Amino acid sequence: MSESVNFWGVVPAAGVGKRMQSDRPKQYLLLGDQTVIEQTLFQLLEANCFAGIAVAISSEDPYWPTLPCSQQEKIIRAEGGRERADSVLSALNALVGKASDNDWVLVHDAARPCIKVADIHRLINTLKSDPVGGILALPSHDTLKNVMQGQIVDSVDRNRVWRALTPQMFRYGVLKKVLQLAAEKGQVVTDEASAFELNGLQPKIVEGQPGNIKITRPEDLILAKFYMEQE
Ligand code: CTP
Ligand code: MG
Repeated sequence: MSESVNFWGVVPAAGVGKRMQSDRPKQYLLLGDQTVIEQTLFQLLEANCFAGIAVAISSEDPYWPTLPCSQQEKIIRAEGGRERADSVLSALNALVGKASDNDWVLVHDAARPCIKVADIHRLINTLKSDPVGGILALPSHDTLKNVMQGQIVDSVDRNRVWRALTPQMFRYGVLKKVLQLAAEKGQVVTDEASAFELNGLQPKIVEGQPGNIKITRPEDLILAKFYMEQE
């Protein structure tokens, strides 16, 4: 095993934000005095633990080059992909020659600007000796139902259900491999952990904070502003 393990950030930021219904992708909407993606990258840079952060940006994105953070020395631009997993894989490929297989990668959605530095550090400290890696997650407070055609089939055991957040932290080499495998087999993975699960691996969960929301719908911007102002 190599002695010096580096940490890398990967930020998928190539979505169009369809559910947000705004005039531009949601990562470029203003949240306070900066855009969502600037707030997100600020938190990651503030954590002060990454050798570099690969950001997947759509080739048709006119907004990214106008942001000062696009010129930041730690930021590496990668090409966006069709689905989130394609964007993540593309960002991982942009780290070829820089990252070693044994290095850790933290994948974090551009659309989660309320991530706290303390959460990033807790995830890293909890998992840095783990063989697989894991994710920030939140226990579900609501009772959950399995539903078919508008009718409840049964209830899901709430104690076993967690909501997956980001960052999700895995070793560079294995993460790239399982995402590549999923892509080759046409398996849909909406987060990195799913790609591990498909290969019989069991990522850990580390409890996150409810404030780490993913901006998805218009009302989420107001919530995000509220959470950002909480210290
Ligand atoms: N993302 C990406 N490449 C894609 C799709 C999504 O990099 N092809 C990114 C988004 O920019 C976002 C994160 O993945 O930071 C989570 O995705 P989501 O919340 O679904 O964002 P969008 O796909 O942009 O939104 P929507 O699904 O409403 O269109
Ligand atoms: Mg999406």
